[in-house]
Amino acid sequence: MKLIQAKNYEDMSEKAAAYIIKQVHSKSNSVLGLATGGTVIGTYNRLVEDYKQSNTSYSNVHTFNLDEYVAMPRSDQNSYHTYMDKQLFRHINLPEDQSFLPDGMANDLQEECQRYERLIKDSGGIDLQLLGIGQNGHIGFNEPGASFDSVTHIVNLTESTRKANARYFESIDKVPTQAITMGIATIMKSKKILLLVSGESKAEAISRLINEPIHNNNPSSVLKNHPDVTIIADEDALSLIKREQKEVLSL
Ligand code: GLP
Repeated sequence: MKLIQAKNYEDMSEKAAAYIIKQVHSKSNSVLGLATGGTVIGTYNRLVEDYKQSNTSYSNVHTFNLDEYVAMPRSDQNSYHTYMDKQLFRHINLPEDQSFLPDGMANDLQEECQRYERLIKDSGGIDLQLLGIGQNGHIGFNEPGASFDSVTHIVNLTESTRKANARYFESIDKVPTQAITMGIATIMKSKKILLLVSGESKAEAISRLINEPIHNNNPSSVLKNHPDVTIIADEDALSLIKREQKEVLSL
């Protein structure tokens, strides 16, 4: 793993966008795995700025999002379809039929999971997967206890994840209880992974990822088994990591 230290959220977002833009410039038909949440918004804003200023083209790019809530219409303001459209898709030249998210409204959710997994495979696989991290170490919606062999599947969201996401909803009872998420094995098949971590609320999660052994009670720990992971974390997120460890990790 390579750890890049950023000063703050803006700096992290700047560095992350530069990393993604470099990927798209070096392979114009890149397959990007995308994430939602607060952490990645600044990165998307910068990708949009870059598109306006430098015309980086997404016309040959395909994107696959990590997850989507179950039983939430895609037009709902809290759906990840809406989030992606607002934060990124409508601002760049990515053709509509080249961006994919799981369909949490599908009649047959099991079949939808298989279809999504197949689509990723048929695209040639993800070149670069962008990830955030949950306070409990979840990646995508792979909650503690998730199998490292899991592919795209339906999950029951933990109370802590629903609480963390309640800030976007009127009240916690409105937060869905289930989601479709890429599995850990799906994520691990990506050629490169870029993990973004910002703020004190994630300090414990990143410290556990770095210091604890690989175990499925901390899903993010699996990333230590991947050959090409870059973590960009800001100073607040790294407040529990000792200086020597930062150096050891900067491979
Ligand atoms: C959400 C998403 C994850 C995201 C994480 C962190 O529930 N499913 O993909 O990485 O939780 O979110 P945030 O960036 O808002 O802290």
